[in-house]
Amino acid sequence: MTDLGHNPPFFDLVGDMRAMRRLKPDPVPLEQLQRVLEAGVKAPSGMNSQPWSFLAIQDADGKRWFADHYRAGIESRFGRLDVPEGDASPMARQLRALRYQVDHMQEFPLLLLVCGLRDWPFRVPEEERVGLAPPNYGAIYPCVQNILLACRALGLGAALTTMHQVFEEALHERFGIPLEYGVVVTIPIGIPIGCFGPVRRKPAADVTYFGTWGNRDAPR
Ligand SMILES: Cc1cc2nc3c(=O)[nH]c(=O)nc-3n(C[C@H](O)[C@H](O)[C@H](O)COP(=O)(O)O)c2cc1C
Repeated sequence: MTDLGHNPPFFDLVGDMRAMRRLKPDPVPLEQLQRVLEAGVKAPSGMNSQPWSFLAIQDADGKRWFADHYRAGIESRFGRLDVPEGDASPMARQLRALRYQVDHMQEFPLLLLVCGLRDWPFRVPEEERVGLAPPNYGAIYPCVQNILLACRALGLGAALTTMHQVFEEALHERFGIPLEYGVVVTIPIGIPIGCFGPVRRKPAADVTYFGTWGNRDAPR
């Protein structure tokens, strides 16, 4: 597994792009942010509608506001995320990283909000549509994955987060985000403190069938 930071081969990069939740405060150069976002907008979308927009929060007041609301959101759902000292299980390690992210969010150099135009899915008939449509998640997540991969390719750490959902109304108001957009993910981005490393996933063979559900024999 390579840890070159820059231009690693695709199959190495996709295999060690962990959620990097510990980031240094050093700024992300504008040219790097632009490269990351250019990768994001190369994603496919239905009818090439490209329903994404980005909000990069880099100023101290904006980050502080976001961090305070994020911490309150996490703690309202999960408490302090405390884990016993000495617990080295993957879950405990993840919770410690989440705690670090919550406690240091305001110090990270860049909080990237990926927003999506709202759009009713076809299966919701017009007469049943109430309130705001959800953002077009199906179109936004390929863009998000491109952003994460581009960060990894540049040696930047990033982690997809979704807890802003619990204060999304206030988020719209604070940053002037129009209601026709939903905020889909918030990605803190910066130079990672730890190392990229292999992701833990079930092998594809364990979740793949051929021809008929349940058949694991691949045709040769
Ligand atoms: C839809 C979705 C929501 C997620 N929400 C969060 C989140 O709110 N906070 C966070 O730190 N990570 C979040 N993640 C990242 C996952 O927790 C992480 O990718 C997963 O635990 C596997 O860890 P790894 O990517 O480091 O291998 C989310 C990922 C997805 C796809």
